[in-house]
Amino acid sequence: MTSPTAQESTRLIPVARGNLPALGHAYHLWRHTLEFLDSLRAYGGVVRINIGTLPMYMVTDPELTRRVLTSESRHFETGGRMGDNLALIFGSGVGTINGDGHRRQRRILQPLFNRSYIAAHTDVMRDAVRGRVSGWREGIPFEAAAEMDRVMVAAFLTTLFGPTLPAPREEEFYRLLRTLMKGVMRKTVAPSWANRVMVTANREFDRALARLRQIIGDLIREGRQSPEAAGGVFRAMLAARDPDTGAGMTDAQIADEAVTMLGTTGEAPGTALAWALHEISRNPDIQRRVRSEVDTVCGGRPPGPADLAALEYTRCVLTEVMRHHGPGYLFTRWTTAPVDLGGYLIPAHANVAYSQYIVHHDPAVFPDPQRFDPDRWLPDAPTVSRSSYLPFGLGSRQCLGENFSWTAMLLTVAEIAARWDLHPHRSRPVKPVASTTVRPHHLTITPRARTTGPGAA
Ligand code: HEM
Repeated sequence: MTSPTAQESTRLIPVARGNLPALGHAYHLWRHTLEFLDSLRAYGGVVRINIGTLPMYMVTDPELTRRVLTSESRHFETGGRMGDNLALIFGSGVGTINGDGHRRQRRILQPLFNRSYIAAHTDVMRDAVRGRVSGWREGIPFEAAAEMDRVMVAAFLTTLFGPTLPAPREEEFYRLLRTLMKGVMRKTVAPSWANRVMVTANREFDRALARLRQIIGDLIREGRQSPEAAGGVFRAMLAARDPDTGAGMTDAQIADEAVTMLGTTGEAPGTALAWALHEISRNPDIQRRVRSEVDTVCGGRPPGPADLAALEYTRCVLTEVMRHHGPGYLFTRWTTAPVDLGGYLIPAHANVAYSQYIVHHDPAVFPDPQRFDPDRWLPDAPTVSRSSYLPFGLGSRQCLGENFSWTAMLLTVAEIAARWDLHPHRSRPVKPVASTTVRPHHLTITPRARTTGPGAA
């Protein structure tokens, strides 16, 4: 056990109010997610909640969250009930394994997702994004979260498998991922009795997962037989070697990594972009500034890596979207031994969680946290705590898809801003709803073709 420092005397871990029989705090967490998470900060740096009857230690303090993810991460592994359930879905993918196995997979996979490798895929990604965005119809509203999922899945499939994936297979990937995304949180975090009663949903989930694994298995077999026919990052995965040992990945390992990556792409970047469209469409000044920056930087040309790097204000908008709207809001860890976290004694074999939403809405770190304000990220803005900004996590488990996500999201906003003016379609109020991410429910956007500017029709 780690010992408290002189300043960190032992502190009590309170239990949050509202613990319901059989449900614990699960009802509040699912039905009033953001309000519930916001309320936890008042209990101090660590607070206990119950998911059904399962205790979970929520770390609410930004500095303690950073310690869990970085300096003290050796005490906080992936695992516990949530981690074990995730492993049933993703197998031994990089997101569900620990220790040497995790370090080895990161060593092999990291180079395939670094900035320059992803930059080399900008053109194919842009074509995939453009293919969808240019197909929008004047004045015809679309459901933002579903459409942005499609755009991001198309961009990622092109990056992963190359631009030659047939359209029906892309469509099937998209449908399978939607079914999986609807079930992941239920399968991993919801009380186990809740899962037992959802027989039909579970059957659909299992069928979708089996089919996804079958398709990936076929692609691996085809790629092994004719490596020149495989494309994108997938081709590189088939050939990748551990730089320390020279060993490649087995087919089973590649399949688990591909399922992990597709699973992680299925919702998070689409959700972030949907919230971005929400903010851009309802804030005329933000829309005008994004459009003017895209016109100046890209001048009607297809954006390339250097253009994306120059989209400073657009990047601030996306940075603020991921501060204010997530998309991730709850990630879990598991203690292998008792841990002293800043004076809070967390027992061994305990489920621990951290939340981007809690950290990103801490008024001590981000003043006036409920205000959407991209300007707080401008280089000359007075104070912003970048070290407490963690949409992609921190430390050894920091998101592998971060560079891909930034490139794909900037490309998408640039492609949209060059062609379309966005208008909120106000038939229903937009509500944040928790699934794997916090999604904008009933967010409908109406595109109108731009009549001026270098990219106008
Ligand atoms: C806006 C989009 C995304 C966001 C906000 C996001 C967020 C995150 C976060 C917060 C973590 C850390 C979880 C933890 O601490 O337990 C993570 C891990 C991970 N993400 Fe992402 N992610 C995004 C997109 C992607 C994409 C497109 C991929 C596809 C390659 C991806 C692959 C992964 C993987 C493999 C891990 C596990 C890393 C490990 O445990 O070593 N993510 N992501």
